[in-house]
Amino acid sequence: MSVASLSADRETAELVRSANAALRAGDLRGAVEQLGQALSRTGDRPELLSAYGHLQLNLGAAEAAEDAALRSAAIAPNLPETLTLLGRLWLLGRHRPNELDCSWSKQEYILSQLPSVSRDFYEQHKDLREVEHQVGRFLNMQQVANEIISGRIEGDIVEFGTWQGLGLLMLGRCFATDAIPRKLIGIDSFEGLPEDSTIWKKGLFNDTSLDRVRGNIESRLAPGQSFKLIKGWFNDRTVPESLTRECSSIALVHFDADLASSTRQALGIIEPYLVGRTAPMYFLFDDWGCNPDEVPDAFLNWLPTARVRYGMEAHKVCTTRITRYYKMTFAAR
Ligand SMILES: C[S@@+](CC[C@H](N)C(=O)[O-])C[C@H]1O[C@@H](n2cnc3c(N)ncnc32)[C@H](O)[C@@H]1O
Repeated sequence: MSVASLSADRETAELVRSANAALRAGDLRGAVEQLGQALSRTGDRPELLSAYGHLQLNLGAAEAAEDAALRSAAIAPNLPETLTLLGRLWLLGRHRPNELDCSWSKQEYILSQLPSVSRDFYEQHKDLREVEHQVGRFLNMQQVANEIISGRIEGDIVEFGTWQGLGLLMLGRCFATDAIPRKLIGIDSFEGLPEDSTIWKKGLFNDTSLDRVRGNIESRLAPGQSFKLIKGWFNDRTVPESLTRECSSIALVHFDADLASSTRQALGIIEPYLVGRTAPMYFLFDDWGCNPDEVPDAFLNWLPTARVRYGMEAHKVCTTRITRYYKMTFAAR
């Protein structure tokens, strides 16, 4: 890492140069000291504050890092380095803007951290709810994607329940270097949940729209990756019709629609893709058992029929607290 140069008086510019020299020499503390002095000369400069915050966090000084991040965000809330710093703090359970905040910026925090997360990081921080869920599911998606890529399993990636696009983008990241061309397909009403059910309320997750999600995804996929969003209720006949037009084979399905009824409908929609299948297919379930047993019940009650109809067997691959990822195999008939 290095601190970006900035227009400043000679003495401040010299302090920034010294901070960079200290960094190159591996002297984190020296770099923090130089930047601290630069900040006291210039007052709050967001580029300096966020660099200072990142370094403080690298030294384990989360409080100082948080202070710098919040000061920087107050001046330039969308500066990428500040967002990344807030993301690091947020995943560490430090920065909690609002537990119920469903804004895209919160999803942005998570995306900003994905390139650097590892199983070690997950093990260290999995007692934090967000890390357990978001980092855990991303690492598991990577595991599944690697199996699909190394097994050269052809087919698209289909998600039921896309909301603002985070899950689809995570999957996109996992397949970014894949040589097999495949489409990412997200299916959603983009109007929230269709009905009340157990703890779920009709309309939850309606803070989204087709255009907004298109924008979120378009700008963040790797070059050459393609995606399609299908807007509709799963029990509308237009949804399977659109899917048939877009997709002839599926490698992975991400079921993230919360409700038993929606999960049942999604399973019904993908049944035509199971007929005569021999290559494995992966089913990724979110919200597994987090609220009574809506999602597990929908899947486990459907599974015996799929065994008989398609010779399909489910093999658990990996889990987190509220996700279950399965590999489906098909007996030759
Ligand atoms: C938990 S959110 C999806 C989260 C997203 N996959 C992520 O990783 O951020 C659930 C989504 O499912 C959609 N949904 C649930 N049931 C549906 C149905 N029957 N038809 C269409 N969309 C549905 C909701 O609109 C909502 O956006």
